[in-house]
Amino acid sequence: MFYQLGLIGYPIKHSLSPWIHETFLQRTKLNGNYSLIEIKPKDSFANAMDTLKKQNLHGFNVTVPYKEKIIPYLQGIDEQAKHIGAVNTVLCKNGEWFGYNTDGIGYVRSLQNHFPELKTEKEKQILILGAGGAAKGIYSALLKNGFQNISIANRTIEKAKTLLTKQSNEANIKVITLKEAEENIALFDVIIQTTSVGMKPNEAETILSLHALKESVIVSDIVYQPLYTSFLQTAQSLGARIHFGHTMLLYQAQYAFEIWTNHVPNVQHMDKELQKILEG
Ligand code: ATR
Repeated sequence: MFYQLGLIGYPIKHSLSPWIHETFLQRTKLNGNYSLIEIKPKDSFANAMDTLKKQNLHGFNVTVPYKEKIIPYLQGIDEQAKHIGAVNTVLCKNGEWFGYNTDGIGYVRSLQNHFPELKTEKEKQILILGAGGAAKGIYSALLKNGFQNISIANRTIEKAKTLLTKQSNEANIKVITLKEAEENIALFDVIIQTTSVGMKPNEAETILSLHALKESVIVSDIVYQPLYTSFLQTAQSLGARIHFGHTMLLYQAQYAFEIWTNHVPNVQHMDKELQKILEG
């Protein structure tokens, strides 16, 4: 078996996915390759999909700006992708395409692998900062994983309310303002920053000010450029255990690779290597 994999999107020249998936192929001793398939926004997406179908790939990743645009070309879509309204992984089987979204589940895996107590202690109080696409995926994966106590804080409160689903009724979910989150910050066991605040070139920005954190709190930031955001620096100086954004990249890719090949690649030490690549 030769696994033909790839990535569609634009721009994708600097994507880290080829390095990640080629490392996975080596580690699982599977044959295959991972190619970059650039589709320019000015080109016809329908024609590009026709061409792609003929290439008989086993699967591919989808990145901006096509995570929503791909949906009409799929014959099936998984629960997470449907809920988020965006697909980042496609499995091709007998000429049919099935869409998945591995971001949220990948993120939760990454968090649980770094902090194994989160595999069992589902009563932890979790705070999600932000209510965009990334927050949606993480929120839905946390619920699916059994976490019950989740607060969502966003600058635009109405947007945070749109994250609530039928599943939310059964759990202890709160939608709060950023100010309320800041005032009650010491109540949370896990704080997850899902917005682009603090990303290059606005490294000095933080979404809220951290103070009086709960002892042994976990603070996570999905921003990975820079890796060590101001938010994480402050959290660490206040005694928090911190979780870096780039690990999410590895675990969402691990789950995608699993969907394509049924093999779970070992990601050990890849975070250090990825860190070196990101830091140039
Ligand atoms: P993504 O899909 O990458 O998550 P998005 O859907 O554009 O991106 O969502 C961006 C998130 O970052 C939102 O929660 C946004 O808050 P609003 O809903 O109020 O717009 C949040 N965000 C972006 N810039 C922000 C800022 N300067 N301060 C606070 N929140 C910000």
